[in-house]
This record gives sequence, C-alpha cells and structure tokens, in this order.
Amino acid sequence: MSPLGLEEKMNRPADNTLRIALSDAGISRRDFLGFCATLAAAYALPASSVIVIAAALENASRTSVIWLSFQECTGCTESLTRSHTPTIEGLILEQVSLDYHHTLQAASGEAAERAREESMRANAGKYLLVVDGSVPLGNPGYSTIAGVSNFDMLMETAKGAAAVIAVGTCAAYGGLPAAQPNPTGAVPVSQLIKDKPVINVPGCPPIPVVITGVLAHFLTFGTLPELDGRGRPTIFYGESIHDRCYRRPSYDQGKFAESFDDEGARKGWCLFKLGCKGPVTHNACATTKWNNGVSFPIQSGHGCLGCAEPDFWDMGSFYKALSMPATPVRKAVAGAAAAGVGAGVAVAFANRAKKAAAKAAHETVKVEDLTKKP
Ligand code: SF4
Ligand code: F3S
Repeated sequence: MSPLGLEEKMNRPADNTLRIALSDAGISRRDFLGFCATLAAAYALPASSVIVIAAALENASRTSVIWLSFQECTGCTESLTRSHTPTIEGLILEQVSLDYHHTLQAASGEAAERAREESMRANAGKYLLVVDGSVPLGNPGYSTIAGVSNFDMLMETAKGAAAVIAVGTCAAYGGLPAAQPNPTGAVPVSQLIKDKPVINVPGCPPIPVVITGVLAHFLTFGTLPELDGRGRPTIFYGESIHDRCYRRPSYDQGKFAESFDDEGARKGWCLFKLGCKGPVTHNACATTKWNNGVSFPIQSGHGCLGCAEPDFWDMGSFYKALSMPATPVRKAVAGAAAAGVGAGVAVAFANRAKKAAAKAAHETVKVEDLTKKP
C-alpha cells in the first residue's frame, strides 16, 4: 500500500485512529513501542510510562492545527513532507487535524479562508497554531494572505489558540528575513504573542522528529513539553551539538582538520577550525540526525552553521572558527583550540561526568519486554 501524501492525510476520515494508521502502514507494534520508548527517554519518564504513551497516542482525539506561513522559504514544510514515509513521525502528523496550511491544503481562495475561520470557531481555545516565517512590521503590504497582513492574521488566529508553536528559526528568532539590515522589520512570533504559551522549535529547517515530538507530547499529555529560557523544548535543545558530536574525541585530543581536503578531514577529525558552530548551537542533530537517522551536517563533512540559534546569519563567516570567549562553553572551546589536549581533556571529564549522572538518573527502557504485552 503506498503511503498517503500529506494533502490526502488532511482529508482523511476523522474517525481514523493512529492504531489503524500504523497497521495500514505496516508499522509493527515493536517499532511503535520503540518510538514511544524514545519519547519516554527524551521526556525523562520511567520505562513503565511507555505503554501509557503508546495508548494515549493510539487513541488520542484529533487536535485541530492551523498552520500559518509568513516570511519563509517553505523549507520547514519541506522538511516535514520530505521525511521518509511511512514513518511514525509522519503518522503522528496524521493524528492531528491539519485544518489550514497554505502549501498542503486542497482548498484555495475564499474556501481556504473559510476553513480557517470555521476551525477557529469550532475549536476555540483548543486548537494549536503553528507558524513558520517571521512577521514583517515595516509595512503591512510586505507579506499578506488573502489581503490580510501577516501581523493581523497572526493576532486574529492566535486569539483562540491553546498555544502557538513557532516552527523554524524565522518564526522563532526572525531568521534570515531579520538578517541585517532587516529591510522588512521582521520580528519573531514571541515578540508579538504575550498572552499564551509560545514554543520555539528553531532550525533552518527544524528536524522533522523534533516538530512531531512536540505535537506528540501535546497529544499524549495535553500539555507542551518543558521549555528553556528561549522557549525551546529542553528535551531536544537541552544540549549543544558539540556535547553529543561523534567527532568530540578528536576535539578533546586537539586533533583538528585544517582544510576540507587535508588528512585530518579524511580521518574525520574535529571541524572546529573550519568554522563549526556546534559548541554554541543547541539542537538534536547529533543524536536524532536527519533523513531517518542517516546523517547530519557534521557527519557529512561540514561544520554546523548554527542554524538553530538567533542571528546565525549575522554571526560572521560560516568558515571562521569561534574565538571570543563569551560563555563557559566558549571559554572551554577557545582554551582547547589554543592549548589542545589539556583543556580538551578537562572538558571531556566534565562532559563524561554529566552524561554518567544523566544516565544514572534514567531507567533503561527495554522494548523487548514491552512487546510481550498485548
Ligand atoms: Fe563536533 Fe564541531 Fe564540536 Fe568539533 S567543534 S566536536 S565537529 S560539534
Ligand atoms: Fe543546523 Fe547545525 Fe544541525 S547547521 S541542521 S543545527 S548541525
């Protein structure tokens, strides 16, 4: 059976449950429980919660989602739709009622706007509003939908939302449209919405499983995950790329590639001197990876650009090594770059101790045990 396109998923019957969708897609209960175990581990929940998460996801009622796209490149939507199908992440997306999405909806013109208004009315106070793209304040005419400025549509649609999810670095921080000299006066969603939760899911684009992980949390618990000081879910943005990078041992040993084609690059050494921004970038790339866990930029031989951090576009050359100590992490990085092994070993010890403590605090989830249950 060929997987449904997202456009078809938007129009699927409302009584379809994830249980049926999983079975239709040929996804085994074992794989599904593995996905739930990953979520449980990410949320720092005990192994016993995996069954609870699975049951909640399988039977969750469909949550209405309205998705607005403002000043963006459609990369965030592409990230989601180009993920491998059928995936459990894709099926989670099926579990919501995506009532309005410019790129994916079949309806157009007045019918599309009516769908948005009807969904807002029918699900007042309960729907999720997802936004990708920044909002131009310089002139209402810079970006409009059905003749309505992005600002007016955001404020109108956010009024009845339970929460707002700002997907992508543009919606979360202004992103590329806000790069100097910010010709449209672009601002992030959180600068405009102050009376309800705004959850930032940055990345240019964000990792699909991170977007669906946030949705899965809402479907499972009816709440949003814990956020850090920048409004990001700590489960996905709690550690830097550098914290979890597989090239970290070479960093700790002071082994750096000096060019993209030297011996160090061929041996897979650290890309710090080639401009990698992993030490100051918080995202899940080094652990969840991209394309169904196949790879991520550093594994493909290029340093992290810092695409999930504010102002990444204005932070100087992508190929210039970090140098100015600004935070404890940066200090450690600058020290290691200058002194090589010494500082690196100290950071490695601190990192290992942190990981050991985190590991000890979590229960091990054994999917084998869980699959024995009905
Ligand atoms: Fe990995 Fe970049 Fe850190 Fe090197 S600097 S260990 S390549 S994240
Ligand atoms: Fe972006 Fe860096 Fe990940 S550039 S995709 S946050 S490795």
